Amino acid sequence: MLHQIQTLAETLSPRLIEIRRHLHSHPELSGQEYKTAAYVAGVLSSCGLRVQELVGKTGVVAELAGEDPRRILAIRADMDALPIPERVDLDFASTQSGIMHACGHDVHTTVGLGTAMVLSQLGVPLPGTLRFLFQPAEETAQGARWMIDDGVMTDVAAIFSLHAYPSVPARTIGIRYGALTAAADDLDITIIGESGHGARPHEAVDAIWIASQVVTTLQQSISRTQNPLHPIVLTIGQINGGRAPNVIADTVKLSGTVRSLHPDTRNHLPQWIETIVAGVCQPYGAKYEITYRRGVPSVLNDPALTELVARCVSEALGDQALQLIHEPSLGAEDFALYLEHAPGTMFRLGVGFTDRAMNYPLHHPKFEADESAIVTGVITMAYSSYRYWQTVAPSRSG
Ligand code: NI
Repeated sequence: MLHQIQTLAETLSPRLIEIRRHLHSHPELSGQEYKTAAYVAGVLSSCGLRVQELVGKTGVVAELAGEDPRRILAIRADMDALPIPERVDLDFASTQSGIMHACGHDVHTTVGLGTAMVLSQLGVPLPGTLRFLFQPAEETAQGARWMIDDGVMTDVAAIFSLHAYPSVPARTIGIRYGALTAAADDLDITIIGESGHGARPHEAVDAIWIASQVVTTLQQSISRTQNPLHPIVLTIGQINGGRAPNVIADTVKLSGTVRSLHPDTRNHLPQWIETIVAGVCQPYGAKYEITYRRGVPSVLNDPALTELVARCVSEALGDQALQLIHEPSLGAEDFALYLEHAPGTMFRLGVGFTDRAMNYPLHHPKFEADESAIVTGVITMAYSSYRYWQTVAPSRSG
C-alpha cells in the first residue's frame, strides 16, 4: 500500500503544483474564502467524495467513505490568506492586491486535496471513513470554532493536521510530542482611581501611576512567582487613559495577550493576575475591573498519534526525513480547538529551500515555499491516515 501511495502522489505531483499555484495566485482573507472553497469543493467532487459546502461559514467538508462508517479520522487544512502585499517575484504571484498566502495555507489546502486524490484512487476502500475539514479563518482564530459549531467533529475519533514551516527543509517532516503551540488569551484591566488637579496628587487616586505599577509588578512577579519551566508571556500591548497633562487620570485601560503552554498554568492565570492587580490597587484606594477572555488553547499533540506519524515518515520517506522539534512555539493555532473533541497531532511540513542561505519566515511578504514539500506532505498524510485504522482498535458497537 505504501508503494501505491508513493506512486500515486508522485504521478499527481504536476497537477498538485498546478492546484497550489492557482490557490497561491487567488488568495482570500479570513472568512471570505468563497472562491477558494468553491474550487476546493470542485476538486473533491471530481474525486467522488461526498462534499458539503458553507460549513463553518466558508468551510468545506468532504467524506471519503470507508468500510466502517463509524471509524472516522479527520484531516484539517486551513484555507485563508493574510492582508500582506506579496513581495516575491513569481509567475503565479498573488493577483489580489495587498493579500498574500504568507502562511502557507495554499500548501495546506493542496496537501489536503492531494491526500483526497491519492486515497480515492487506491482502488480499495479504506478501513474507516476519512473526513476532510477545509477550514476558513485560521488567521483570526475563528474558523475552527465555526466548523466545530457546525458539527464537523461529531463521531470523529482522531484528527491530523500540518503546518508549513520554512525553517524546516523541504522533504522533511518536523514532529513534536506534547505542546506544539501556546494557549493565547486576551486580557483587559481597567484601573479606576479618582481625578484631581495635577498639582495636588494627595487629593486624588492616580490611575496612571497605579497602572504603570500593575504592568511592572505583573512582569516582575512572573519571574519570581511562576515556574520558569512553564513559560508565560504576558504582553500589555495597549494602554489608554487620562484627559489632560495637568489632570490626574481617573481611569486607565490596559489590554494585552497572555501566552502559556501548560493547561494547569493557564487555568490559574486569571486568579493570579487578579491577586497581583488587587494587591497593587488596594493600598492606594484604586478599584479595578478585569476581563480575561480565553482564546485558543495550546496544541497538545497526542503521544500515540504523533508516534504513528513519526513511524510512517521513517517508513515512507526515510529516517533522514524526520526531524524532532525540541521547542514549542508561543504562537497560537486554532487546531487546538479540535483537540478538545478528539485526540490528534499536528506536524510541521518542511517548505524551506535547502539551496538558499535563508528562508523568510511565515507572515513575511517574501515568504516562499519549496513546492517539492507538497508530495512529501501528501505521502505523510495519506500513509499516516491509512495506517491509523490498522493501529487503533476497531469500533465495537453495532
Ligand atoms: Ni498558518
